[in-house]
Amino acid sequence: MERAAPLIAAIGAVASNGALGLDDWLPWDIPEELAYFEKLIAGAALLIGRRTYESMAAVPVDSFIVSRQADLPLRPGCRRVASVEAGLRAALATEKPVFVIGGASIYAAAWPYCRYFYLTRIDMPFAGDTLFPESIPLAAWPVVDEVSARYLERKSACEVRCRFLKYEQPQPCPVPAC
Ligand SMILES: NC(=O)c1ccc[n+]([C@@H]2O[C@H](COP(=O)([O-])OP(=O)(O)OC[C@H]3O[C@@H](n4cnc5c(N)ncnc54)[C@H](OP(=O)(O)O)[C@@H]3O)[C@@H](O)[C@H]2O)c1
Repeated sequence: MERAAPLIAAIGAVASNGALGLDDWLPWDIPEELAYFEKLIAGAALLIGRRTYESMAAVPVDSFIVSRQADLPLRPGCRRVASVEAGLRAALATEKPVFVIGGASIYAAAWPYCRYFYLTRIDMPFAGDTLFPESIPLAAWPVVDEVSARYLERKSACEVRCRFLKYEQPQPCPVPAC
């Protein structure tokens, strides 16, 4: 039987001014946006940058943590990988869908291999110390799905529009063999 091509997707959220992170967490507090993220990545193998990994309260099994620190302390079900490519190879070997969940440095290195980028655009500017990488050519990728909703952002107590976009990269690169 013919095997389906391995699926690698990235997922993230960005504010209207490009902010992605603040103080090692998200700049906003929108529970519905977080729930969308958690629903999509459920059961997947994850590629995670070390900083993002350390900020997460819980990490599912088959999480691959990108770090140059050989002695990085790891939680059960997690494995350190020394590069984005090594992490993607290991994640694909699980035969689960693979999601790249950030942060910025990992999106910037992994996007060439991603078929899809699920990006929530939050239509409000936020203070941030980490920006979405401008090098990712999302503007050239067709949007194949888009849903909008308005939610309460709890820090500002303002209602904000969230646009849940799914971009498709026409020709992602194969992950190098080694
Ligand atoms: N808005 C969103 O959707 C979203 C999603 C995820 C994260 N975030 C936010 O983004 C921020 C973190 O992003 P970040 O870019 O600062 O950190 P990050 O990508 O999470 O992690 C950076 C670390 O990954 C390792 N790394 C990166 N590139 C590597 C490479 N080529 N080879 C080996 N190791 C590599 C290094 O770890 P070592 O230093 O251990 O070597 C580096 O310090 C946080 O604020 C987080 O909350 C936001």
